[in-house]
Amino acid sequence: MDDFQMPTPDPNPEIKYTQIFINNEFVNSVSGKTFPTINPATREKICDVQEAEKADVDKAVAAARAAFQLGSPWRNMDASQRGRLLLKLAGLMQRDGSYLASLETLDNGKPFVHSYFADVLGPIKDLTYFAGWCDKITGKTIPVDGPYFTYTRLEPIGVCGGIIPWNFPINMFIWKLATALAAGNTVVIKPAEQTPLTALYLASLIKEAGFPPGVVNVLPGYGPTCGAHIVEHMDVDKIAFTGSTEVGKIIQAAAGKSNLKRVSLELGGKSPLIVFSDADLDTAVEEAHTSAFFNQGQVCIAGTRTFVQESVYDDFVKRSVERVKKRTVGNPFDMTTQHGPQVDKDMFDKVMRLIESGKQQGANLQYGGSRHGDKGFFIQPTVFSEVQDDMTIAKEEIFGPVMSIFKFKDISEVIDRANNTTYGLAAYVFTKDIDKALTIANSVQAGAVSVNCFNPISIQAPFGGFKQSGNGRELGEYGVHEYCEVKTVTVKLSHKM
Ligand code: NAI
Ligand code: MG
Repeated sequence: MDDFQMPTPDPNPEIKYTQIFINNEFVNSVSGKTFPTINPATREKICDVQEAEKADVDKAVAAARAAFQLGSPWRNMDASQRGRLLLKLAGLMQRDGSYLASLETLDNGKPFVHSYFADVLGPIKDLTYFAGWCDKITGKTIPVDGPYFTYTRLEPIGVCGGIIPWNFPINMFIWKLATALAAGNTVVIKPAEQTPLTALYLASLIKEAGFPPGVVNVLPGYGPTCGAHIVEHMDVDKIAFTGSTEVGKIIQAAAGKSNLKRVSLELGGKSPLIVFSDADLDTAVEEAHTSAFFNQGQVCIAGTRTFVQESVYDDFVKRSVERVKKRTVGNPFDMTTQHGPQVDKDMFDKVMRLIESGKQQGANLQYGGSRHGDKGFFIQPTVFSEVQDDMTIAKEEIFGPVMSIFKFKDISEVIDRANNTTYGLAAYVFTKDIDKALTIANSVQAGAVSVNCFNPISIQAPFGGFKQSGNGRELGEYGVHEYCEVKTVTVKLSHKM
């Protein structure tokens, strides 16, 4: 990063790829159908994209299966060479980083700066990390009873389906892809219908990097048609999904009804962010702000229930309102913009409905609460205080720019309330007292606890949820194991040694 230079955005990036990617070729859909993708900042159509459905899924899965056959170039490839291909892809993303970030900002609406950092530089690091894993996925020798030599191999599972959301389109694409490929699997991946464009450009880079045909296939399309068929396909061996808990349940059930494919799920959250009275309040206000509003609040680990101890409550609310007033909302291609539009009309309507319910149910609207402008799907960053645990905004995942501030008295009360949710993705605690910090860390039901910071999400550390926030873990060594089968090999020996 020594030679880091922030690139300049291009508000009109050329749209180069709009077709389905199967067997290293861009092709039209079997049905001839297309669907539009929209610029959420203007609500104008960007272009039409080929729409994958059942017949296209069948073609893609067949290609991925052929690429996975024993003796194929991919199966014969040295693990270290797989690593070199992932590094090559990282290099191509670096080369085209400015273009990729511009394309993402156009399609998703997030500020260019965030597209570049979260969806280009982050995934480049991820690829580099998983490239290193390729030739380090090892089994064990096991001292079993009797005259046997027993060892384990970690083998790829097979054809892995990735179904991803629109909030971090490149990041989610690479999380699913890099781990699956590091372990030697082949992939069929469906980007979200709201944000198909960067996935298709990445497909062209995958081909350019030199991955054999069929190893990666990209299917733009809708969930109930394209996504559901990947999930119920008898020749798909694993699904990795990020999205809503509602669809996560459908996927797990469908896997059970088809071929018992492996399923890992990264779902929603309603994460508590707990501020004790002894916390550094400047830090707590800033991190709580980021936690609620980063990426327009479209973040699964957002700290959406801000619990503040009563003696600092009024001060915290006042400072949070001062902070949110400084948040710059507007054209996502403007380098000073911190806050863009919500991704689409459905999400805009959902968030506005929940903000309305907060007002109706008596939360105290401190700031925002309305749409911003009259063109795109912009919503004012919104702060509610005096939020009560039984209000709808306290229970439902909003996935929009809404901070809800609750008051609490003591640690045992706040632990109970923090855990009073069906979710269990993340939790945050702000305090200078190590005892309180660790008591919270040990007591909250959450896959990731952060002390005195918003979660930096490190590629080396596992990521995933307790309860209805999901199954399994991504990233780090745990993530690699989600893409491997364990095989035990036992050899009978003539002598016990
Ligand atoms: P979603 O869960 O419907 O969509 C996520 C992905 O799943 C998309 O690619 C979609 O096409 C696909 N999908 C939808 N239905 C499917 C099905 N029956 N079978 C297979 N794939 C299917 O999420 P959506 O509708 O975009 O947002 C709804 C809510 O989900 C949000 O308000 C938010 O609360 C939550 N969400 C959570 C995310 C996270 O990062 N954990 C990301 C996106 C949404
Ligand atoms: Mg949906």
